[in-house]
Amino acid sequence: MIIKDTEFKLKDGRTAVLRSPRDEDIQGMLDYLYISSGETDFILRYPEECAKYTPEGEKALFDRMNASDHEAMLTCIVDGRIAGNCQVSWSTNIKMRHRAMVAIALIKEFWNLGIGTRMFEEMTRIAMENPDIIQMELDFVEGNSRARALYEKMGFRITGVKPDAIRLKDGTLLNEYSMVKRIRQ
Ligand SMILES: CC(C)(COP(=O)(O)OP(=O)(O)OC[C@H]1O[C@@H](n2cnc3c(N)ncnc32)[C@H](O)[C@@H]1OP(=O)(O)O)[C@@H](O)C(=O)NCCC(=O)NCCS
Repeated sequence: MIIKDTEFKLKDGRTAVLRSPRDEDIQGMLDYLYISSGETDFILRYPEECAKYTPEGEKALFDRMNASDHEAMLTCIVDGRIAGNCQVSWSTNIKMRHRAMVAIALIKEFWNLGIGTRMFEEMTRIAMENPDIIQMELDFVEGNSRARALYEKMGFRITGVKPDAIRLKDGTLLNEYSMVKRIRQ
């Protein structure tokens, strides 16, 4: 679905725009995917695994997301650059259409400026607009205290753990935690 542009102020005083991705964002999105993948172990890909992403693939993804009635992608633009991206989506299957899945990642230089908080407010608004949705869900990797703090602030609670779900290149095994936020009864 298309999300109309909204402006907001970052903690450092700059203005950011949150909006649906456009064709002009394709190269910026490829750069964002590559950079963000190398900055933290908490994103589920390594930079070299971004080679599979292409301009054509990104365009197809943007077009699908923007035309969908059960998926939304939100891009945050700061100083003309992509600072981060988030997605909210839900199944159209009757048994699962009450569950909205969310995902978020920002480039490191844009962490701790309030973008994540603003993205969650917008994703919650989108989920609330669909009367079928009763809960929002996400996962985070063990040790991601910044993400956990944000999610708890936004009302998510841990509901489960998948042991050793992530294996880093050096063999380190990390648990993955599931969180849920109830948005209506
Ligand atoms: C996790 C992430 C999305 C958070 O977004 P963000 O824009 O940095 O978050 P915000 O600035 O809105 O809020 C972060 C909050 O955590 C707090 N925080 C920051 N570092 C923290 C830490 N190490 N431990 C606990 N809390 C922390 C901040 O003070 C802030 O709280 P406040 O608004 O009450 O002051 C972002 O840092 C990111 O993209 N990280 C890398 C990718 C990633 O981990 N994605 C999530 C995968 S599940």
